[in-house]
Amino acid sequence: MKMKRFSACDFFVIPLLLFIICFSSPFISASRLLQSDIHEVHRRSLLANGLGATPQMGWNSWNHFNCMVNETIVRQTADALVSTGLAKLGYRYVNIDDCWAELNRTSEGKLIGNKVTFPSGIKALADYVHSKGLKLGIYSDAGFYTCSKRMPGSLHHEEIDAKTFAEWGIDYLKYDNCYNDGSKPTVRYPVMTRALMKAGRPIFFSLCEWGDMHPATWGAHVGNSWRTTGDITDDWKSMVSRADMNEVFADYARPGGWNDPDMLEIGNGGMTHNEYVVHFSLWSVSKAPLLIGCDVSNIAKDTMEILANKEVIQVNQDPLGVQAKKVRYEGDLEIWAGPLSGYRTVIVLVNRGPTRLPITALWEDIELPVDTVVKARDLWKHKTLSKSFKNQLTAETDSHACKMFILTPIS
Ligand SMILES: *[C@@H]1O[C@H](CO)[C@@H](O)[C@H](O)[C@H]1NC(C)=O
Ligand SMILES: *[C@@H]1O[C@H](CO)[C@@H](O)[C@H](O)[C@H]1NC(C)=O
Repeated sequence: MKMKRFSACDFFVIPLLLFIICFSSPFISASRLLQSDIHEVHRRSLLANGLGATPQMGWNSWNHFNCMVNETIVRQTADALVSTGLAKLGYRYVNIDDCWAELNRTSEGKLIGNKVTFPSGIKALADYVHSKGLKLGIYSDAGFYTCSKRMPGSLHHEEIDAKTFAEWGIDYLKYDNCYNDGSKPTVRYPVMTRALMKAGRPIFFSLCEWGDMHPATWGAHVGNSWRTTGDITDDWKSMVSRADMNEVFADYARPGGWNDPDMLEIGNGGMTHNEYVVHFSLWSVSKAPLLIGCDVSNIAKDTMEILANKEVIQVNQDPLGVQAKKVRYEGDLEIWAGPLSGYRTVIVLVNRGPTRLPITALWEDIELPVDTVVKARDLWKHKTLSKSFKNQLTAETDSHACKMFILTPIS
C-alpha cells in the first residue's frame, strides 16, 4: 500500500536551522562585545511572566453559554470544578469570555462589569474564585469592540485595561481580534503585552487572532498561547480540521508558549462519545490548552470519563512540552506521535474512515530506534498490555475513534 510520509523538517526546519547556524554566529559573538548585551537578552521576549510552563487548563464560558454568561454561572462553575474533582486534576482557570462588560466605559475610562449580569462586579467574582483555590480569566479585544459588539475593546485603552484587570485580581486574558483598525495583529497585540507587563500582576496572555498572521512564528514573544485556527464548532469535521491546521506549527510549541486549536466541545452534545475521545486525545498530544467548554454544573458521567482521564491529562502536561505530529497517514488512518519525558513516546492511532480497521505504527515513523522493545500502556483502557512490542504496534480502531498508547522502552 502506498504510504505518504510528511515531515515539516524536510521542507522548512532544516533550511531554517542551516540559515540560523550560518548567519547568526558572527552576530552573537559581536553582540557579546557590546554593553547592550543584557538589553538584547531582555528584548528576546516582551512577555516574561513565568506562566504557561505546561498548557493552560480550565474552563471557558463561550462554547456552552455564549453571551448568556453571568456571575451566577461563573460562581457555580467554580463550585462544580471543585466538587467534581476537576480542579484537582489541573482545571484551575475559570475564564469569562465575551459579553461581561457594560457597553460604555466609566467616566474615568475604565471597563466595568455589566450591571445586570455581573451586578457584584468582577473584583468580587475574582475574590470568590480565588477563595476556591482557582484563577479568574477575562476577555477583551484588540479592536474598538469585542466580537459580540456588546462591550468595548481595549484598542488604545491597553494600559488602563491591563491595570484594571490587575487591580481586580485577574489571572488570564483572552484577547480577540474583532472590529480592529485594519493594522496588523503584530502591531496591536504587543501593545497589550507591554501593558500587562507594566500592570504588576502575572496575567496569562492568550492571543486569539485566529491564525491570521501565523502567530506561531511570533507568538512566543507576545503571549503564552496563540490560536492557530478560526473558531471550533461542535462537530467532527470542525474538530479534526482544527487539529490538522494546528499540527502544521508543531515545531513552534514549547514551555511558555503553546499552539491553540481552540477550546474543547466535549460534553456539548454534537459529537459521539468516541469522537469526543479523539478530540481529547488529539488536544492532549498537541499540547493544546485544555479548556472545558461545557456546563460543568450539569456534567454527564461519560463526559467526566473523558475530561477526568488523568493519564491523558498527564501527557498534555508532560514537562518535556513537545507537541506531537501526524507522522504518517494512509487514507483515513492516521498515526500521531511525539516524545514524552523519560524516553517515552505517546502515539494516537486515529481512524477517520467509516469502518473498523487495524492501524499500525512503525518504529521508523515514530522515531524509535528499530529493535527497541517497548511495553505499551493503553490510556483509555487504563491497562498495560501483557505483550511487549518490537518494530511496530498494530491496533484495531473503530470508525471515528482512536487508540492512545504510551510506549516505554524495556530493552
Ligand atoms: C453610552 O455613551 C454614548 C455616547 O458616548 C451615549 O450616547 C449613550 O447614551 C451611552 N449609553 C448608556 C447606556 O449610558
Ligand atoms: C444567570 O443565568 C441563569 C440562567 O439563565 C439565571 O438563572 C440567573 O438568575 C442569572 N443570574 C444573573 C445574575 O443574571
